[in-house]
Amino acid sequence: MRLKSIERIAVGEVLGKSVYDDKCQLLLARNVALTQNYIDRLKQASIQCIYIEDEISEGIEPENVVSQELKLKSVNVIQNVFKQATGKKSVGFDAMQVDQIKDIIDEMMEIVFSHRDTLYVMAELMGTDMYTYNHSAEVAVLSMLVAKSLGLNHQFIQKIGVGAMLHDIGKMKIPNEVLNKITPLSDEEMKLVKEHARFGYDILKESISISPISRQIILLHHEKLDGNGYPMRLTADEIPVHVRIVTMCDIFNALVSNRAYREKLNVDEALEILRAEAIYQLDREIYYHLLKVVNIYPPGTIVELSNGTIGIVIKENREAQTRPLVQLIVNNKKGDIVNLMDNLTLFITKTIEL
Ligand SMILES: [Fe+2]
Repeated sequence: MRLKSIERIAVGEVLGKSVYDDKCQLLLARNVALTQNYIDRLKQASIQCIYIEDEISEGIEPENVVSQELKLKSVNVIQNVFKQATGKKSVGFDAMQVDQIKDIIDEMMEIVFSHRDTLYVMAELMGTDMYTYNHSAEVAVLSMLVAKSLGLNHQFIQKIGVGAMLHDIGKMKIPNEVLNKITPLSDEEMKLVKEHARFGYDILKESISISPISRQIILLHHEKLDGNGYPMRLTADEIPVHVRIVTMCDIFNALVSNRAYREKLNVDEALEILRAEAIYQLDREIYYHLLKVVNIYPPGTIVELSNGTIGIVIKENREAQTRPLVQLIVNNKKGDIVNLMDNLTLFITKTIEL
C-alpha cells in the first residue's frame, strides 16, 4: 500500500484505506476499485491523497502513530469545540467540552508512550476544508512526540497536547474567505489573520480548566526567537519551551499539508526549510528532536536515487533515516532490493510521485 496524490489516480486502481468526508462519514470503503465516478467524488470532496494497493507497493503496510479511528474522533471533537467559538468573543466552555479534548489527548498520550519505535508519518487524508481541524490533531500528536523525545514529564506533555490541539481556535473568528484566499492577503487581512493568537487566548479566558501552559501556547505560538513573531514580539529567553515545541510542529505540519494557495512540500523539503529557520527563528534543539520523531521516508515513498534509478522505500532505518531499505522499480515492476546502509555512495536525491 502507498500514498498517492488524487491527480495521479487512474481508473481501476484499488483503494488501500477507507476515505471519509468532512462530516467524518465514510465516502469510499477500502478495497474498492476506483471508477471515474468515484475519482470525481473524491475530487469534489477536495481529498488530496489516498492510499492505494498496487503491485510495486504490495506487502507494504504504512504504520501511523494514530489510528484512523482516533484521528476521525479527534477531528470530530475539535470541529465541535471550534465551531462553538465561531464569531464569539469569549466562550465559557463547559467542563464537558474541555473534558472531551482532554480525553482525546489522554488517548493520544497512551499511544505516544506505548509505541517506542513508531515514527510519525504525515498523512493528510481529508479535504482542504478540514485543514484547521486535521492540522490541530496532527500538531497535537507531533508536539507530544517531540515533548516526549525531549524527556518532559507526563503531566507537562498532556498540557502541551491540549494547547497544541486548541492553538488555532482563534481562527474561528476570521472569515473563511480570508483564511482560504488563493491570492496574497492585503495588509488589512494579514493584520486580521495575525490577530487569531490573541482571539484564541480571549475565547478561552474564562475556561478555568485549561492550564496556563496550554493558554500560553495559544497566545504565543507565532512568536519567533529573533523577535520577528507576533503578537508580542517576544525574543528567545521570553519564549518558553512548550511554546517553542508547538511553533516548530505547527510550521512543519503546515508545510507538508496542501493549502488553498499552495501545494504541500515533501517531508525532506520541509525539514530543510526548518533547518535554515532554526538558526535564527526556531529552537535548534527542538529541531533535532523533530528529526528524531518524524519519518522522512516512510515505507511506500517513491524515491529517486543518485544513480538515476527509481525505487520504493520498503523499510525505514531508525539509525540513519536518510538510508532506508529501497526496492528498485524497473518498468513498473519490483526489482532488486538495495540497502542504502551498505551502499554509502548511493543516496536519495528526491521524493517523486509515480
Ligand atoms: Fe496559528
